[in-house]
Amino acid sequence: MNQKFRVAIFASGNGSNAEEIIKYFKEHSSIQIVLVVTSNPEAYVLKRAANFHIPSIVINRQDFATTIVGRLAEYQITHIVLAGFLWLIPSTLLKAYPNKVINIHPALLPKYGGKGMYGMKIHELVRATNEKETGITIHVIDDKYDEGPIVFQAKCEVQSTDTPQQIADKVHELEYKCYPKVIEQWILNELNYSR
Ligand code: GRF
Repeated sequence: MNQKFRVAIFASGNGSNAEEIIKYFKEHSSIQIVLVVTSNPEAYVLKRAANFHIPSIVINRQDFATTIVGRLAEYQITHIVLAGFLWLIPSTLLKAYPNKVINIHPALLPKYGGKGMYGMKIHELVRATNEKETGITIHVIDDKYDEGPIVFQAKCEVQSTDTPQQIADKVHELEYKCYPKVIEQWILNELNYSR
């Protein structure tokens, strides 16, 4: 029997990665993006989800820890993909989805990880530190920010003339190219990494 996997994307903002993921899995035979969850009622990702007729839910911080597992069960979600989601994932959710939550971080962890390290702050610091390269890290989520088992990393060069915005653009390109394929391999169990 061909097993079907049902994925929820969690995103707090623009959602350009979410859109790439939605497009990649549009006609997939076994993996379906069935829900977008956001922490932000103004998030542009809501518009992107609507454009692709994917249902979305906005959740507030108070309800997140207590109701999210039940909401995901309504949609029979099997896997969770974080794509620019800013809240810590509560332990209730991790218990319900052990090793079934994946995240992308726009830097080469363990560098530029941890609390407060998100968005342009990372690329500004990469610039200020004069790094010659940066990149992306895709990892499974455990109960500490940015510290779960690494599934995949990819690098890009940083030129001495690159602005933080140019660095961000290069990293985003790498994310679009790699994240959907890595999600596919992770869900289908085709990746070797230690848990
Ligand atoms: C991405 O750079 C991702 O690595 C990080 O948040 C950003 C989200 O960007 N976790 P977007 O909303 O997908 O455009």
